[in-house]
Amino acid sequence: IHAITNKNLDSFEEIPDTHDWVQPNSFPSFRDDHSNNISDLPDTDSVPLIDLSLPNAPKLIGNALRTWGVFQVINHGVPISVLNSMETLLHDLFDLPTPQKLKAARAPDGVNGYGRFRISPFFPKSMWSEGFTVSGSPLEHFQILWPHDCTKYCDIIEEFDRELKALCGRLVWLALGALGITKEDVHWAGPNGDFETSSGVMNLNSYPVCPDPDRAMGIGVHTDSCFLTLLYQNNTSGLQVLREGKRWVTVEPVTGALVVQVADLLQILTNGLYSSPFHQAVVNRDRKRLSVAYFFGPPENAEISPIKKLVTPTQPLLYPTVTWAEYLRKKAELFNDTLPSIRLST
Ligand code: SIN
Ligand code: FE2
Repeated sequence: IHAITNKNLDSFEEIPDTHDWVQPNSFPSFRDDHSNNISDLPDTDSVPLIDLSLPNAPKLIGNALRTWGVFQVINHGVPISVLNSMETLLHDLFDLPTPQKLKAARAPDGVNGYGRFRISPFFPKSMWSEGFTVSGSPLEHFQILWPHDCTKYCDIIEEFDRELKALCGRLVWLALGALGITKEDVHWAGPNGDFETSSGVMNLNSYPVCPDPDRAMGIGVHTDSCFLTLLYQNNTSGLQVLREGKRWVTVEPVTGALVVQVADLLQILTNGLYSSPFHQAVVNRDRKRLSVAYFFGPPENAEISPIKKLVTPTQPLLYPTVTWAEYLRKKAELFNDTLPSIRLST
């Protein structure tokens, strides 16, 4: 096993030159820019910050998603204690000795466990980060990592999952509501409008201090593939979103806030009215950074297509019908040429 070791993370020579990395313009044309829809909306230089407890929050969410595809939310209802417990888990997890973490390495064909960031199929090179993916119960891996405290850490994950899933459900309906969409328009969403997603998928990320941040990336540029992503970041910045295809804007950490991002399937569902932003994570010389990306998607077999009400003469149908799995396959195929050689075993 050679991929994830401290030596590896410290060995500066292995970090590629930035010009080797995938650049936004190499993404396929399904990423059409619909900025003509947003010309009459206000523009600011920083990612909008929305207080979910205010009466005008739904309107602000609609505007933020149309113009940016991303915003930060406060007073979101997720208790601060849940975020603090997750922060503790992140420190405890990534502070474990590397041989211990490697015992919980994700299998080559698996989803769960420790390793390089899992969206790596879209990148040709490794990134300056380590991660742990949780899809469903983390029990099996946590028993290896923390034989004596496993229950404590599983409880933290479970509570985080419950709280963030509830918030995602609420945010998706607020986002759709801002476009005049009601539960009747999304027939597969279930009788209560519950998306009945399988348990949430989350990536726990650590970006160690980097000796030469100009030559390294935490996570290269990409879009997320689910409906909506919630991101918890500790007090160190690193997440950047691409603004109008031109500028990288840093999402500055706000205490207690969560970052909300449109992902590809919501772009399809809204026929491009909301588009999933390109984003990346940069690293820095002085401070280790921790984050959790929580991915909220549709039920496994749901066929996602643009909502009929949003297909109009001025906004013709832009996307075909896909399930989440089909979409992921398609996206991977499009990047086939750049499939990386990511290995966790010799
Ligand atoms: C992600 O894009 O999934 C993670 C970004 C971050 O760590 O800020
Ligand atoms: Fe992402």
